[in-house]
Amino acid sequence: MANENHQADTSKAPNIPKTNPDPRAHVGHAVAVISGKGGVGKSFTSAYLAVKLQRMGYKVGILDADITGPSIPFAFHISGPAYSGDGLIDPVKTKTGIQVMSSNLLLDNPEDPIVWRGTLISTLIEQFYTEVRWDVDYLLIDMAPGTADISLTVFQKFALSSAVLVTSPQSLVSMVVEKSAKMADMLSVPLLSLVENMAYVKCPKCGERIDIYGKQDTNLGKRHGIPVFEEIPFDPEIASHMDSGTVEDLKADYLDATAKAIVNAAKED
Ligand SMILES: Nc1ncnc2c1ncn2[C@@H]1O[C@H](COP(=O)(O)OP(=O)(O)O)[C@@H](O)[C@H]1O
Ligand SMILES: [Mg+2]
Repeated sequence: MANENHQADTSKAPNIPKTNPDPRAHVGHAVAVISGKGGVGKSFTSAYLAVKLQRMGYKVGILDADITGPSIPFAFHISGPAYSGDGLIDPVKTKTGIQVMSSNLLLDNPEDPIVWRGTLISTLIEQFYTEVRWDVDYLLIDMAPGTADISLTVFQKFALSSAVLVTSPQSLVSMVVEKSAKMADMLSVPLLSLVENMAYVKCPKCGERIDIYGKQDTNLGKRHGIPVFEEIPFDPEIASHMDSGTVEDLKADYLDATAKAIVNAAKED
């Protein structure tokens, strides 16, 4: 595992200086989990990818960049407050040792809404990257939906190694994939995997696959140069583990291919 913080190839990206984690912290590879809209399973993907990478023996963290709709602390049943010392905030650890930073871990009451302007939110996300005592091989960044201002700041300022795109069949997939692929290309961040979540239903009695949205275009990712394509069905186990804060106990082969792709890409650096 390389010891330096990964620097993305910025040759094609707009000329915005990258920010880096504090020298006392260690972030091997930062991986953004993005989507075109909310509710497609981005937080589940971030959480379960973290679990998978952790099970492969890596040190993992999750930066919850969804400041106004944070759900990572719930998925792992952790709460704040996060403490700070020497000018750095300590991430909160889950029961298996995944490091997490989220706006929810800074609030006295997790139900309190954050009503801030975009610039303040961007500043907080940047601090989550630069002023947290991360010690991770992989830092997964659970982004807020869309290609709006805030996501763009993350894409431009963080030294991202790669990105994973999460979609669902009903979310105008083709357009979303195209937009995201273009943005990633513009910013020189390789899109490694297209995860189509809630893609189909498995019959609880016979296990037969039911394509409730019709047959999907499984070559869409490849056409946009995204090497890995994974489908995840509607699975009540996912919803119940996410809701009860036990995502670390979920046993399924979902996201194995994506986790492997992330590790392989990191080895090639
Ligand atoms: N494949 C799935 N099967 C069943 N429920 C899912 C699945 N993926 C996500 N969910 C549930 O759907 C809701 C939205 O998922 P979430 O990961 O929070 O989406 P996002 O972060 O994109 O808004 C959550 O309650 C989550 O537990
Ligand atoms: Mg989310």
